Amino acid sequence: MSDLRLPKAGTIEIAPSILSADFARLADEIAVVESAGASIVHLDVMDGHFVPNITIGPPVIAKLRKYSSLVFDAHLMISEPDKYAKAFVEAGANHITFHIEVADQPQILIDTLHNLGCTAGICLNPETPVEAVEKIAPLCDMVLVMTVRPGFGGQKFMPEAAKKVRRIREIVGPEIRIEVDGGIDPDTTPIVVSFGADTLVVGSAIFSKSDRIAAINAIRDACPLG
Ligand code: DX5
Ligand code: ZN
Repeated sequence: MSDLRLPKAGTIEIAPSILSADFARLADEIAVVESAGASIVHLDVMDGHFVPNITIGPPVIAKLRKYSSLVFDAHLMISEPDKYAKAFVEAGANHITFHIEVADQPQILIDTLHNLGCTAGICLNPETPVEAVEKIAPLCDMVLVMTVRPGFGGQKFMPEAAKKVRRIREIVGPEIRIEVDGGIDPDTTPIVVSFGADTLVVGSAIFSKSDRIAAINAIRDACPLG
């Protein structure tokens, strides 16, 4: 368990996604993005069922927790989030996002996460309409809009999916964060920020570069507000 919290809404935050990092050196990779001033690290959890790929689970997160004081933003791309969410909180996740497409009782899971001292996020896939999260989004701390199909890093940004951010911003107002995930780089950053996104998940545009710090600064420089 960890007391770190998502930064309050009102700032633009970059959340480096370790999916494209060197998995044999994860703690070092996270330390580098921390030194670049990131406050959040995005941890992609895949079960080989909800998405056609497998990554990490609670034991890896628990080990990483000892090496980092970044907010751990766990993106659960798993078919049974209700069953496993608590294990991720106990491992040290500070924010947990689950997918609306597989949530049986999303409101109950959000309450459970809050009672465990964790903030909660709901995520929607590119083909999932905004209406699917209309009632749940205002109960969350952050809404995650996928701008690629989940499962792999390095895919092409989907502009139509990103447009949903505008409508979600109208629904949730300024106090709830909106995170975008997939194909975010210096070219797409101004687009999603202009739509109202304030939390930018960035995988390959950071970890496929040899200079991760310069890559983070390039995203920062691409933000319309500075
Ligand atoms: C994709 C993951 C993303 C991924 C993004 O399923 O949810 O977090 O790491 O990678 P890029 O930034 O390369 O599109
Ligand atoms: Zn993700």
